[in-house]
Amino acid sequence: MEKIIDENIQGQALSLDKKEGNTRKLFIESYGCQMNFSDSEIVASILAKEGFNTTQNLEDADLVLVNTCSIREKAELTVRKRLEKYNAVKRINPKMKVGVLGCMAERLKSKFLEEEKIVDLVVGPDAYKDLPNLIEEVDAGRNAVNVILSKEETYGDISPVRLQSNGVSAFVSITRGCDNMCTFCVVPFTRGRERSRDPQSIMEEIDDLASKSFKEITLLGQNVDSYLWYGGGLKKDFEKASEFQKATAVNFAKLLDMVAEKYPKIRLRFTTSNPQDMTLDVIEVMAKHKNICKYIHLPIQSGSDRILKEMNRLHTREEYFELIDNIKKLIPDCAISQDIITGFPTETEEDHQDTLSLMEYVKYEYGFMFAYSERPGTLAARKLEDDVPEATKKRRLNEIITAQRNHSTYRHEAFIGKTVEILIEKESKKSDAHWSGRNTQNIVAVFPKGDYKIGDFVMVRIDECTSATLLGEAIGYSDNN
Ligand code: SAH
Ligand code: F3S
Repeated sequence: MEKIIDENIQGQALSLDKKEGNTRKLFIESYGCQMNFSDSEIVASILAKEGFNTTQNLEDADLVLVNTCSIREKAELTVRKRLEKYNAVKRINPKMKVGVLGCMAERLKSKFLEEEKIVDLVVGPDAYKDLPNLIEEVDAGRNAVNVILSKEETYGDISPVRLQSNGVSAFVSITRGCDNMCTFCVVPFTRGRERSRDPQSIMEEIDDLASKSFKEITLLGQNVDSYLWYGGGLKKDFEKASEFQKATAVNFAKLLDMVAEKYPKIRLRFTTSNPQDMTLDVIEVMAKHKNICKYIHLPIQSGSDRILKEMNRLHTREEYFELIDNIKKLIPDCAISQDIITGFPTETEEDHQDTLSLMEYVKYEYGFMFAYSERPGTLAARKLEDDVPEATKKRRLNEIITAQRNHSTYRHEAFIGKTVEILIEKESKKSDAHWSGRNTQNIVAVFPKGDYKIGDFVMVRIDECTSATLLGEAIGYSDNN
């Protein structure tokens, strides 16, 4: 489930248990990264106190909220299509109100109200606590907008309701925003400055998940390794902190260590790691704890030093290799996945070959690959012409996808004949006689159900594989149950 964009859950409407006495109906759906799905649970939790129960039926809704993504143009087009659908429903039910949340709300602000006549409400990612006031405005017949970004908001005091989850794995946000300013990326503009959440509130949320028997927790942030708590405040102001604050500060390695130590039976994951911010102490903590999964999502974007520089990724190809070598030295069986962009402005055939040769070196277990999509307002859009023809971007993308498929198969084949621990998460999509779960390396395994149930840790002997999945047979419980 570490997929940044999980195509299976895109647009899924969130349904929570009904709160008695609530009379209004909320339809909320989410697009984009895991953070949006996580935020929607916060929004639903805030609105439950305002008299809203969730519904999965659009036609029934009093309020429709769509949590949006701006990362690529295609993501925005998907949302615009959904708005057309809401518009059709609104013609039948004129009292229905429509609100846009998330990154597109932040990017387009009140333009949304002018362009999309059906939108009543526009709320950016840091303004969800203002929803009760904004909805009052809308009820009074006025449009409402709040897209103010915050330097402090982490929603640490709101306990998200997770009733739609499988009860096995949960996501816990630990940082919001991003300060890295990769030149292609819209996130720093839509999600604002990077801030870290109080470790105490993180621990409380994990305590709560542990008491509800969750088995796997993923710590979430646009750039998790950059986590730093010193009593509040932006990371860039840490230098100005007092000696006491510096001495008692909690960085990502320390946070990870604390959580892993306290919950030895819970599997821990984290995402996303930026190579320039991932430090050796994090890898050492991973190596120290059995319950921290041996998997790192480590986007590279390009294998060419020149392109990395143009992207403002603050590391070189050589430094990335060093990091990979260190990971493999300390955790030989650690899986690594990538994000790669093809056709960034000025990318030549030689740059593209550099990406392919980098992939050959790392042989990633998994990858998320995209053709460059120019985003208005980003540094790349302002400074560089989107000059790689669409057909070239696509061809390079296909070559990269093919290489990745080969590498995934290569990595998966190494598991044949081995027995691995799998946490059962759900029924296999292809067969109701099979369970589906993941091993520590985040690779999906499918096997006959037997007497096992969702949430069990089982030992599975791997007999076959594809480029996407391991296939095998459960031979007993693991000692983690
Ligand atoms: N650090 C974030 C990154 C979010 S964006 C995280 O939590 O994962 C996810 C990926 O989308 C990026 O790593 C990048 O590969 C891709 N991406 C971002 N902007 C893009 C753009 N303008 N065009 C194409 N792909 C992009
Ligand atoms: Fe985007 Fe780079 Fe941050 S990809 S989210 S600016 S690390």
